[in-house]
Amino acid sequence: MGRLDGKVAAITGAASGFGAAAAKRFVEEGAKVALGDIQDDRGRAVAEALGDAAVYVHCDVTKEEDVAALVDAAVANFGQLDIMYNNAGVVGAVGPIDTTECAEWDKTIAIHLSGTFYGMKHAARVMKPRGTGSIISMASTAGILGGLGPHAYTAAKHAIVGLTKGVGAELCHHGIRVNAIAPAGMATSMVASLSGDPDDIEGTKARLATTSTLKNRAGTAEDVANAALWLASDESGYTTGHTLTTDAGTTTGASLEGPAFREREEMILEAGKRGLS
Ligand SMILES: NC(=O)c1ccc[n+]([C@@H]2O[C@H](COP(=O)([O-])OP(=O)(O)OC[C@H]3O[C@@H](n4cnc5c(N)ncnc54)[C@H](O)[C@@H]3O)[C@@H](O)[C@H]2O)c1
Repeated sequence: MGRLDGKVAAITGAASGFGAAAAKRFVEEGAKVALGDIQDDRGRAVAEALGDAAVYVHCDVTKEEDVAALVDAAVANFGQLDIMYNNAGVVGAVGPIDTTECAEWDKTIAIHLSGTFYGMKHAARVMKPRGTGSIISMASTAGILGGLGPHAYTAAKHAIVGLTKGVGAELCHHGIRVNAIAPAGMATSMVASLSGDPDDIEGTKARLATTSTLKNRAGTAEDVANAALWLASDESGYTTGHTLTTDAGTTTGASLEGPAFREREEMILEAGKRGLS
């Protein structure tokens, strides 16, 4: 018995990283998947490796008609849509706020926020009549804390967390759950490209392991695929409006060194008298 037996998913940004890993994981658990991306050769290769359980369509998430067509392709090929995974993304506009280019800002917001809105809108269109569904969107730890990513990225990811709550509050009345995932820096092309080689996933993994808050453990695309699998499956059937972190504790405030506790000291009764160290 697969955890997604009989379910159909649409995934954006499925040619690489989290999207490709989720496509594989979902099919392993019995789902059929409609995959969308702008990297057509890579996207087709991901779908072909999954055989009859997958179909690829070109889908630029900044175009509402493309996202609508991806949803329609899932229904046309596999009969329904149970899971919408709004995952596509880029680092986008970088740099200090006073020099951020407006065109780059707009493009970043269009990919992350408008792309997610289109995904939610068109998933709801086909899920509402069936009274069931799970919508998952890709946030980030940069959608929870400031200072972890560029400004447009941070703003868009915070907005995705907000949209997840707002749309979750609406669609719960239709039996549809709406959740998000917030990973820290994980070993995918997006992070690998920051060091110059988007295909160096193993090198990125090794590098991240040395800077991870979870001892010697880099975050991988498979970690995020497993989080998406849980949100996609009926196992998370009473969870909606939630943003699930896959961040090795980064958003707890965990630091590389760990907290500076005094050990085996006499109990400090007067708060603040001696401090932590
Ligand atoms: N890797 C990380 O550390 C990390 C952390 C937090 C959140 N995220 C988010 O996870 C998501 C996936 O990123 P990834 O790490 O797998 O990176 P990735 O670069 O491996 O994959 C991103 C995919 O999105 C596609 N894409 C880009 N623009 C698109 C568009 N306009 N339309 C359709 N597809 C488009 C790319 O072609 C690519 O296949 C993104 O939303 C990203 O912001 C990544």
